[in-house]
Amino acid sequence: MKTVQVALGKRSYDILIEDGLLSRSGERLSSLARGGKLVVITDENVSRHQLPRLAAALQQANLSIEPVILPAGEGTKGWDSLSTLMNRLLALEVERSDHIIALGGGVIGDLVGFAAAILKRGCAFVQIPTTLLSQVDSSVGGKTAINTEAGKNLVGAFHQPSLVLIDPLSLDTLPAREVCAGYAEVVKYGLIDDPDFFAWCESDGHRLLAGESDARSYAIETSVRAKAAIVADDETERSGRRALLNLGHTFGHALEAETGYSDKLLHGEAVAAGMALAFRYSATQGLCPDEDAQRVTSHLRAAGLPTSLQDAGVSASGQALAAHMMHDKKMESGTLPFLLARGIGQTYLDRNVSLDDVAAFLDAELAG
Ligand code: GLY
Repeated sequence: MKTVQVALGKRSYDILIEDGLLSRSGERLSSLARGGKLVVITDENVSRHQLPRLAAALQQANLSIEPVILPAGEGTKGWDSLSTLMNRLLALEVERSDHIIALGGGVIGDLVGFAAAILKRGCAFVQIPTTLLSQVDSSVGGKTAINTEAGKNLVGAFHQPSLVLIDPLSLDTLPAREVCAGYAEVVKYGLIDDPDFFAWCESDGHRLLAGESDARSYAIETSVRAKAAIVADDETERSGRRALLNLGHTFGHALEAETGYSDKLLHGEAVAAGMALAFRYSATQGLCPDEDAQRVTSHLRAAGLPTSLQDAGVSASGQALAAHMMHDKKMESGTLPFLLARGIGQTYLDRNVSLDDVAAFLDAELAG
């Protein structure tokens, strides 16, 4: 078993990674249960594929499970589900010292994390992420949120889990497109500050996508190690270091807004196109070698991910896309900090990017 610690003083926690961990999690979770019972919140899809494995493991440890099963999909990450969930948790008499369990992808993790943050002013929770995207990114670091009419993730809190259990075998039942979308977030760690890991992605990433166990575990461990170090350094995104994790997200956010945050373009797919655009924009500004931008584009394309506006099915003007960026929650005093690159593994936060230049670049991309 691999263990990665997120070092946050008294709120430090472990991320455990092992094939089959879900089926062996009973003992580990029994120390967190009160009265022999654990509340597990999941969605309809995950409840079919993964809940029976967790329930069997808890039964072996003489624990019973109180499942709360919510509809699958992004729509669950809103006020209505939050209200349903809070009422359910209160009816189950969950106490501040109790642990609730989030079993699922990013939607469940973010919603349950937020519910845990506000239930009786904060109860403990465990993340058991079941998608690649949630395993390598959203389950680690304590960002929790719901979506509102004004936008995605605008209501939320930083609330760290007390444990993250990652079982790569849960990826076996995921659609290939979702694994591929999650892979964009894996590549992101190489592009941020680890050129050797990006080179590994180029040589071995296809093995992860094919479900090879050693490649999958290695990529997940490397990704969460990178994320844990960043979170330990800048938990609440104050110093700018954690902002590096948003590479590709500003361009990606505009693409998602244009495609209506729908299945037309999954979040990881938008991040892939956004990272390719960020590197090509950096190259056109003379900040980053053309070869690096080409390498990024080629690798993401070879993995089956979109790398352009055309691939993303977006034909909006540069100004329209820039307007979406203006609504980004990362806006600071009217300017938008942008993640750009000086090369592969050399991402940095640029506070002097002109949105007019970005719009002109996007128009040229669309014309090209
Ligand atoms: N997903 C970006 C972060 O956790 O900061």
